[in-house]
Amino acid sequence: MKSKAVSNELKKNIKVIICDDYATISQKAAAIIAGVVSLDPECVLGLATGSSPVGMYQELIKKYEAGELDFSKVKSYNLDEYYPIDPENDQSYHYFMDTNLFKHINIDPANVHVPSGNAEDIEAVCDEYEKMINEAGGIDIQVLGIGNNGHIGFNEPADAYDAKTHLVDLQESTIKANARFFEKEEDVPRQAISMGVGYILNARRILLVANGAGKAYAISAALEGPITPQVPASALQLHPDVTVIVDKEAASLLKEFC
Ligand code: GLP
Repeated sequence: MKSKAVSNELKKNIKVIICDDYATISQKAAAIIAGVVSLDPECVLGLATGSSPVGMYQELIKKYEAGELDFSKVKSYNLDEYYPIDPENDQSYHYFMDTNLFKHINIDPANVHVPSGNAEDIEAVCDEYEKMINEAGGIDIQVLGIGNNGHIGFNEPADAYDAKTHLVDLQESTIKANARFFEKEEDVPRQAISMGVGYILNARRILLVANGAGKAYAISAALEGPITPQVPASALQLHPDVTVIVDKEAASLLKEFC
């Protein structure tokens, strides 16, 4: 796909909030999700793993414990999962979501969804996943982190965007980046199931969180570079309602959004 320069008109749809530190990013992001849940207790959340949203999940847990939030009717759908991996494996994204959020709030376990990392018929599982989300009314707000190489979900830099939920071959840089969560690099699965970029863009709102200098390139390429599948997050420039919450380090290469 040919890349194209982005007009300022499109960029008006992206709001960038630059924070002093990770704690503030987490509080601001949690406030947005809390607003969505409060306004519509039956909302559909698109959730993400990785270290970036962990602080936001902790803030949401605090709000739940303070009696400010009720998740009993909320539905959630996660972006991605390693493949192959057992949901019980403590490196699975199922396990991550349980330990970092679900088991601390009153969300109904029947309402939480993470792509199946041990599916046999992957294509059927991917189709079914999207069908479930569509039947739930689509995602009201999709939380995203961003990979150092600009990936969102597990959509790696490529020659074309993947629209649908699909099986991905992870790139060496992602395997290396995610090795910090595993005992050794060889343990990182080489594949994953991920919502495609096209499907992510169906969400009504998008909330991306990123912190640290390691994300500076990805953030600037995503928000101010050309729209290209080589930087999967650059497709967010095409979405009508994106909020990006970053610290000064992650924002350090931005020119127009400062
Ligand atoms: C993984 C996840 C992404 C996440 C990225 C960044 O590859 N699949 O959804 O955004 O890591 O992770 P972190 O927030 O730990 O930097």
